Amino acid sequence: MKFKALGVAVAFALTTAGTAAWAAKVRDEPIQPIEPYKTSNPAKVELGKKLWFEPRLSLSGIISCNTCHNLSRGGTDNLKTSIGHGWKAGPVNAPTVLNSSLALAQFWDGRAANLQEQAAGPIQADIEMNMPHALAVEVLQSIPGYVNEFKAVFGTDKIDVSLITAAIAEFEETLVTPNSRFDKWLKGDDKALNAKELAGWELFKGAGCVACHNGPAAGGTSFQRMGLVEPYQSTSPVEGRAAVTGVDADRFNFKVPTLRNVEMTYPYFHDGEAATLEQAVDIMGRLQLGRKFSEEEVGNIVAFLKTLTGEQPQITMPILPPSSNATPRPDPFQ
Ligand code: HEC
Ligand code: HEC
Repeated sequence: MKFKALGVAVAFALTTAGTAAWAAKVRDEPIQPIEPYKTSNPAKVELGKKLWFEPRLSLSGIISCNTCHNLSRGGTDNLKTSIGHGWKAGPVNAPTVLNSSLALAQFWDGRAANLQEQAAGPIQADIEMNMPHALAVEVLQSIPGYVNEFKAVFGTDKIDVSLITAAIAEFEETLVTPNSRFDKWLKGDDKALNAKELAGWELFKGAGCVACHNGPAAGGTSFQRMGLVEPYQSTSPVEGRAAVTGVDADRFNFKVPTLRNVEMTYPYFHDGEAATLEQAVDIMGRLQLGRKFSEEEVGNIVAFLKTLTGEQPQITMPILPPSSNATPRPDPFQ
């Protein structure tokens, strides 16, 4: 008995030593690995997932969050700028929702502090889902399946916008993409990157891209000027951070976008004007760092950027509860 207990103690010591050795192996780099998300509230995530795919949160009855942040396409619509209610075009490119929980704020200009605050915007924005909040609540409240589920998750019969957005935000927290090849390399797997990709990473780091694209998401940690060294030419009326702060010095400052899964999230920049990664890298080199990369250098950086594609969230399509006779009907052509 005594001996066995000792065996357990030794095994435990070995495990802790093993963990320490593994932890020490995570390379000390300006980009850190993304960790899988473990929720403590699966029922809330499940409700949030339903609402994420819920077209009845739009006036037309056909637009959901997933329309523009398609989780089959890296959490984007792959359009220059998004198209919403009434086929209206919005002014900016839809950023990915993958790993957006890791960012310091939401939207290109950071006007929402967090995911819950953000989620209130698109439901009622006329160029997105065009659904007055009161009507969105009325619709969900008229669907018995939702009333039961909100009750189970939040303990109340009364649905409101803050509960809707809290559930959506909880689902979005799960949309992280761990185990990219770059993360495997960061965690000590020397074979995870080939020579070209490694050369791309060294150049990305050495040239100074990491001054802005850093942290686990390789972005999302600061607001920075687009066109730091050379001005950016754009026909877009969008002003960036200045729209939030009212400070002229913040004009054309944008939240540095994440480069995770960037291979999937084309086209690039707030106006979607860069169609390819090669164009985006060339522009970044010239405008942000005053550096003209050779074709080979661009190729190496692009090869590195493609190693940032992680495991995509595995989503089982939710079955949405049917409307009742009392549910307000969609109004697609209003
Ligand atoms: C019509 C297309 C469209 C729909 C529908 C839509 N979005 Fe978006 N979303 C966008 C665009 C465009 C932006 C960028 C707007 C900006 O920065 O000014 C954005 C930004 C975001 C962001 C911020 C990401 C970041 O990196 O800053 C999140 C999170 C998000 N949307 C979640 C949602 C949720 C949740 C829903 C459903 C309730 C939703 N979106 C519906 C187009 C859409
Ligand atoms: C001074 C800060 C800064 C530096 C340095 C910088 N970037 Fe950026 N990067 C940004 C900002 C800000 C944006 C968004 C600009 C916009 O949308 O108008 C961006 C956007 C991008 C995008 C497009 C992402 C998307 O989803 O739209 C790519 C790709 C990119 N950067 C790669 C690089 C590379 C490669 C380097 C180094 C050669 C680099 N960046 C250096 C700040 C920086």
